Amino acid sequence: MPALVLLGAQWGDEGKGKATDLLGGSVDYVVRYQGGNNAGHTVVVGDQKYALHLLPSGILSPGCTPVIGNGVVVDPAVLLSELSGLNERGVDTSKLLLSGNAHLITPYHTTVDKVTERFLGKRKIGTTGRGIGPTYADKINRVGIRVQDLYDESILEQKVEAALDFKNQILAKLYNRRAIDSAKIVDELLAYAEQIKPYVADTTLILNNAIDEGKVVLFEGGQGTLLDVDHGTYPFVTSSNPTAGGACTGAGVGPTKINRVIGILKAYTTRVGAGPFPTELFDKDGEALRTIGGERGVTTGRDRRCGWFDAVIARYATRVNGLTDFFLTKLDVLTGWEQIPVCVAYEIDGKRVEELPYSQSDFHHAKPIYEMLPGWTEDISKAKTFSELPKNAQAYVKALEEMSGAPISAIGVGPGRDETIEINSFLS
Ligand code: GDP
Ligand code: IMO
Ligand code: MG
Repeated sequence: MPALVLLGAQWGDEGKGKATDLLGGSVDYVVRYQGGNNAGHTVVVGDQKYALHLLPSGILSPGCTPVIGNGVVVDPAVLLSELSGLNERGVDTSKLLLSGNAHLITPYHTTVDKVTERFLGKRKIGTTGRGIGPTYADKINRVGIRVQDLYDESILEQKVEAALDFKNQILAKLYNRRAIDSAKIVDELLAYAEQIKPYVADTTLILNNAIDEGKVVLFEGGQGTLLDVDHGTYPFVTSSNPTAGGACTGAGVGPTKINRVIGILKAYTTRVGAGPFPTELFDKDGEALRTIGGERGVTTGRDRRCGWFDAVIARYATRVNGLTDFFLTKLDVLTGWEQIPVCVAYEIDGKRVEELPYSQSDFHHAKPIYEMLPGWTEDISKAKTFSELPKNAQAYVKALEEMSGAPISAIGVGPGRDETIEINSFLS
């Protein structure tokens, strides 16, 4: 089972960090393929809690080589501080590999991200303010700065000047901000160059060789399917492709090499930032999910919007990612409800709709149609096998599996590594 993709099936924060870490001990490489430090992946190992933003969650497994692929956008200051934070806690980070083709987030990208959001006012996306969108925009506009540019000073100067020429006009004339001095940016970037150099590698070649040798490679998505710039709730999305195809472009590995695609799926739904969310709750149930589930952003500290499970979204995730399995997380959070509503379809302008509508206007009007499933009150956090779950919890999982279109191969019953029920091995 050489290559697996693990990605978010909803709007992010499904528990990708925990799932990746769980598999980390059995895989040779864990690869981030898109996004940047907009991600916040929590890993709990014993009594230690780690919040990873840019680094792949496999970095906490000693036998595993963590890789930042070409599709990731990298803030060098964040990279170095995350590495030193882990080193201070005794984590060996020396095996990290960083693609020379990954694009760099510079201070002007974070500035543009923040002023654009301010300018949009009530139409804002609610970005993480980490410069993600402007960095990907520069990449596509062919005025981006790549990791490899740090090692050719004259090219770096030319590229930063070219990027800032245009941006400074916008900053000064549209946003009334002071122009950014390109020499200062170049100096700042050069100051990182030597520290980053030991990690820089031809990651595409290394990963393809590894797969050919039968090594196990896990691609760890950031964000989630509904935040995908092509397949998500555009424009309320991130600026990359968290969906399965993104793993191919973002790591330079062909689709024929991928054997399994695992969707991480929360037993209810959350979202951070603006945009439509049919099952969102504004009542005491929403508040209870937020409190019991600890639904507060790892990156920005914002409260997450909470709602019931949405099977239409899960089915969509199965479709656009070609999911082979689900990892259902946070089932324990639902303990204590007498009945648990699950959205099985939408009502849109008086019609029942089973599939996610492609039209944004339809999606904005979608009203959830709920089916009520019986709840359970027993503590499930110690369950190690499916049969140890209360009958109603088993029935909840089975119902979700049937509605979602792919087998649920693991169930999270707590944040810790061992608080997981494994049903089918992901690595067989
Ligand atoms: P990610 O961005 O997908 O990695 O998810 P986050 O780390 O942002 O948010 C998931 C949160 O849920 C983290 O605090 C995890 O420690 C926690 N978590 C993950 N799986 C479970 C689970 O099965 N049960 C409970 N109670 N918490 C979980
Ligand atoms: P993980 O990997 C949840 C959201 C932001 C905003 C939108 C665009 O932890 O699941 P961006 O800064 O990316 O341009 O913001 O995307 N967003 C996330 N929401 N989890 C994430 O990552 C997210 N990364 C970005 O809140 O709505
Ligand atoms: Mg997160």
